Amino acid sequence: MSHYFTNDNNLVSETRKLIYKYSSFSFEFLSDNGVFSKKHIDFGSKLLLETYLNNENRPLKVLDVGCGYGFIGIVISVITNSYVDMIDINKRAIHLTKRNIKKYKSFNGNAYVSDAYSEIKNKYNVIITNPPIRVGKIKLLEILEGAFDHLEKDGVLYFVIRKDQGALSIKKILEEKHKVEIINKDKGYFIIKVNN
Ligand SMILES: C[S@@+](CC[C@H](N)C(=O)[O-])C[C@H]1O[C@@H](n2cnc3c(N)ncnc32)[C@H](O)[C@@H]1O
Repeated sequence: MSHYFTNDNNLVSETRKLIYKYSSFSFEFLSDNGVFSKKHIDFGSKLLLETYLNNENRPLKVLDVGCGYGFIGIVISVITNSYVDMIDINKRAIHLTKRNIKKYKSFNGNAYVSDAYSEIKNKYNVIITNPPIRVGKIKLLEILEGAFDHLEKDGVLYFVIRKDQGALSIKKILEEKHKVEIINKDKGYFIIKVNN
């Protein structure tokens, strides 16, 4: 069975355009078969992004982990003038992200294939992620707890997770070492902020 996070070269391409409006900005994203939420921008991703933008509007150095076609990272870079790197294990997602980046002259950053933080050498002020859930708890925690090896001393992790995906048990695990806050909730989705 093909999951959106697997690299499946046999999957036919069928690109679609998705529109996203925020304040006076209008964005257009190409999506395709084989990537997460190919037909519409995901509700949890939108809630995470908009909650982030309500909390942070300064230009920062940001890493978007599991970027898909680049929705979260591109919007953050354009709106907050931030430097944003975007990573995903899925080659097609990164190919789409690179095509989407080209539409925004003010975008500043890079996109590349990485299994969690395997290719990450830099440190960031912010790591933001709508993390993959179906990969299992071990990989999920590698992404969430691993963030702190790639954040500056005062860096912050923002992520979205649904209550029925184990939001509260993940929060509890992170609380063993960090200050964890639920900063927004909607339709069973929790937006969680974790301080380094
Ligand atoms: C829930 S989707 C979010 C996609 C995108 N950020 C969005 O909002 O539309 C999670 C993403 O994580 C990626 N992913 C899965 N396993 C990964 C891993 N080990 N390392 C990096 N990315 C991974 C998937 O390919 C997918 O694009």
